[in-house]
Amino acid sequence: MKRIAILTAGGDTPALNATILGAVQRANQLRIEVIGIIKGFSGLLNPQVPHVHLNPLFQCIPELDATRGGTILGASRDYVDANDTEMIARVAGRLSKLKVDGLVCVGGDGTINGMQPLGHHLPTVLAPKTIDNDLGLNYPDEHSEWSREPNDSPKGYTYRKRPGRDFDLDEMVNFATPGYATAVFVSAQAIQRIRTTAESHRRIAIIEVMGRDCGMIALGTAYGQPDIILVPESPVDPDALVERVLAILDIQKHAVLCVSEGIVDVEGRILGSVTASKDPAGNTQYTGAASAVKRLLVERIGDAFFTHKRRNESADAAIFVRKVGHTQRGGRPILFDRFYATQLGGKAVDLLADGLHNCVATLQYRDGAFLLDSVDANKLRDRWGNIHARPLASSLYDPKRFQPSAKGVAYLRTIFNTALGTDDLESMRSLFSTGNLVHPYDSVNVDVNKRIHRIDGTA
Ligand code: F6P
Repeated sequence: MKRIAILTAGGDTPALNATILGAVQRANQLRIEVIGIIKGFSGLLNPQVPHVHLNPLFQCIPELDATRGGTILGASRDYVDANDTEMIARVAGRLSKLKVDGLVCVGGDGTINGMQPLGHHLPTVLAPKTIDNDLGLNYPDEHSEWSREPNDSPKGYTYRKRPGRDFDLDEMVNFATPGYATAVFVSAQAIQRIRTTAESHRRIAIIEVMGRDCGMIALGTAYGQPDIILVPESPVDPDALVERVLAILDIQKHAVLCVSEGIVDVEGRILGSVTASKDPAGNTQYTGAASAVKRLLVERIGDAFFTHKRRNESADAAIFVRKVGHTQRGGRPILFDRFYATQLGGKAVDLLADGLHNCVATLQYRDGAFLLDSVDANKLRDRWGNIHARPLASSLYDPKRFQPSAKGVAYLRTIFNTALGTDDLESMRSLFSTGNLVHPYDSVNVDVNKRIHRIDGTA
């Protein structure tokens, strides 16, 4: 193997540059050239395939820095349509013009689907990334728990998972994915910051975190000590929720709720709204979960309660909503993410060099320690070939207390006990550097642009 390509697909995460760096460092050792494709699969859909040579003379280009969030290659949610055989052939032709012997895609479940059709033309492996921490399985046979049920949607069916079995943490396939730890670091801090306002003004704060259909980010946000955590895997029971909120208000005069964006009602309907995305994993975008919970509390608790307790203030004024939003997906990655992203990038290159194909580099937890491994991408698929987001297992969350269960605590400790490095804390000092006041932001895109090459765009 002389030359490989790498791309970063889907939404950005904080540890993408660390993954690319790990891949390039390993490739340097193996004397493999690495070509970075600009803007994920979108770069391959462009006949000129804008790309960057990441290791001229087997040295990393200086723009590659594991502490820099985002991706110097750029990312997009574009994918190669598996049914468009002509386009796939054209993309394969472009990769062959680039003379690459293999492709590393850095991404999540959508990316595995996107790389699958290319796998018929060249070896492909996935280096995992997602802040949602939903790539993988809670246990190896979990993919067989999906069934396809007819409904009146345009597709004519929907996928449903039967309740899972109990499992040991050692059984998890891909224990944690780079990007998750940093997202939790940000969302837990958001809870702490907003807490003191809710506490001082005796209000109810509802804070929405990302995660799509998976409650892993919300679970980890427990480190910020929200009073109530709502996750998509546990439908919201309004009576139980209101009872808990009132009990908390009674004791501490304020409450802080952490709401995962994909939460559902007892009928399984999304609270908030849904929009389609072009992600081939069928991922949708959710908005308004926290506002939906606010509406529920306003209706159920009513103005009279707050007027009485809070000197004529309405329920609407007493309950406020904040979204952590994209801050949890951006910025400097913390140590856990940097370290394992780098390792997984290197592992992806090893997999290609060892002749493996259509597989995923994974981080496993066994006998009290992390280790690198891999899984055949097909082992993640259901019998119809779909890759589903790994749900937050019911055994990790206690729906009665709205908090992580004992096993959830064990899971989180494994990741977060040593997730922060002293340099993560030290790096905060640079915020108040006088240089930030007098110099404009120095975008890495400016330097990377100077390195971009294009092939002759006739294909
Ligand atoms: O999958 C990562 C994620 O950040 C989800 O948590 C979130 O629902 C989605 O992407 C947001 O996507 P976008 O940045 O395209 O709005």
